Amino acid sequence: MIEAKGLTKRYGDRLAVDGISFTAKQGEIVGLLGPNGAGKTTTMRMLTGFMPPTTGSAQIAGHDIVEDSLEARRNVGYLPERVPLYPDMTVRGYVTFWAKLRGVKASKPAVDAALARFHLTDRQNQLVRHLSKGLKQRLGLAQALVHNPPVIILDEPTIGIDPQQVIEVRDAVRALGQDHTVLFSTHILSEAEQVCDRVLIINHGKIVAQGKPADLRRQLQPGSTLYVVTRGADKKKMRDLLASVPGVTHVEGSGDGFTVKANTDVRGELSTHISAAGVTLLEMRPVTTSLEDVFLELVKEG
Ligand SMILES: Nc1ncnc2c1ncn2[C@@H]1O[C@H](COP(=O)(O)OP(=O)(O)OP(=O)(O)O)[C@@H](O)[C@H]1O
Ligand SMILES: [Mg+2]
Repeated sequence: MIEAKGLTKRYGDRLAVDGISFTAKQGEIVGLLGPNGAGKTTTMRMLTGFMPPTTGSAQIAGHDIVEDSLEARRNVGYLPERVPLYPDMTVRGYVTFWAKLRGVKASKPAVDAALARFHLTDRQNQLVRHLSKGLKQRLGLAQALVHNPPVIILDEPTIGIDPQQVIEVRDAVRALGQDHTVLFSTHILSEAEQVCDRVLIINHGKIVAQGKPADLRRQLQPGSTLYVVTRGADKKKMRDLLASVPGVTHVEGSGDGFTVKANTDVRGELSTHISAAGVTLLEMRPVTTSLEDVFLELVKEG
């Protein structure tokens, strides 16, 4: 549904997006995760036909974004980073305006549906200028979807809204992802983990990693980290004992116990060695690496 091949954008001599390739299928929510300036917005602007790529190409629902730009745009709904809102329009008027602009034939039922979807029906006669930030964001979403496009591109849809509305927007995105193709950018890692089926991590205009959030963590952090608490040996002796277990690469005292890094699953070996030394094992649990750790690691290297 979205197919990008070597998408590249140069602003003067700044390479903002550097050869991005990926596909997103129907019913898939793909997260574009990256720090400020990574190239998320630039990628989305190219995909939505707001500006042409310097090189590379992309298709939206089978339509080339340059050669067949009109048809490509008809198949995509876009929530830009800064939604252009017209303060003197009513909520209903604004959504109707976009429906007509996009050539929606039966605009009334389409507008009704879009307003209902984002709980704006009660507000339909209110002026845009009187809406709160969160309501404006919901209006932006209603605008993006009024023509019922198969592909939806949302640029940081949860930025600047309160926690309750963040939850509502995330739920709305997840619901959309059931039958649409959704590309969703964020720099909030837990959000990408919660909402997306697949994540593309971008930094300096390049995809530096991609996969399911859980797989990404595994792939980038092979082996494991365990937290171990024992009784019956002094700290120094315990540290040496743990470090001597085959597979253990790093031991560090932390709190009442130790953080043990290993390049394989060493749980069996660890408990055998500990009990052989006459020490009591009080606790052993895996320390999970969050996507955040993976991300910071990648971005640091980049
Ligand atoms: N119109 C422009 N002219 C020149 N440089 C630009 C322009 N738009 C973006 N850039 C540069 O391109 C790079 C990518 O910017 P982009 O806005 O795509 O990043 P982003 O990932 O969306 O960041 P953010 O998280 O801050 O929204 C940045 O270095 C930015 O300064
Ligand atoms: Mg951006």
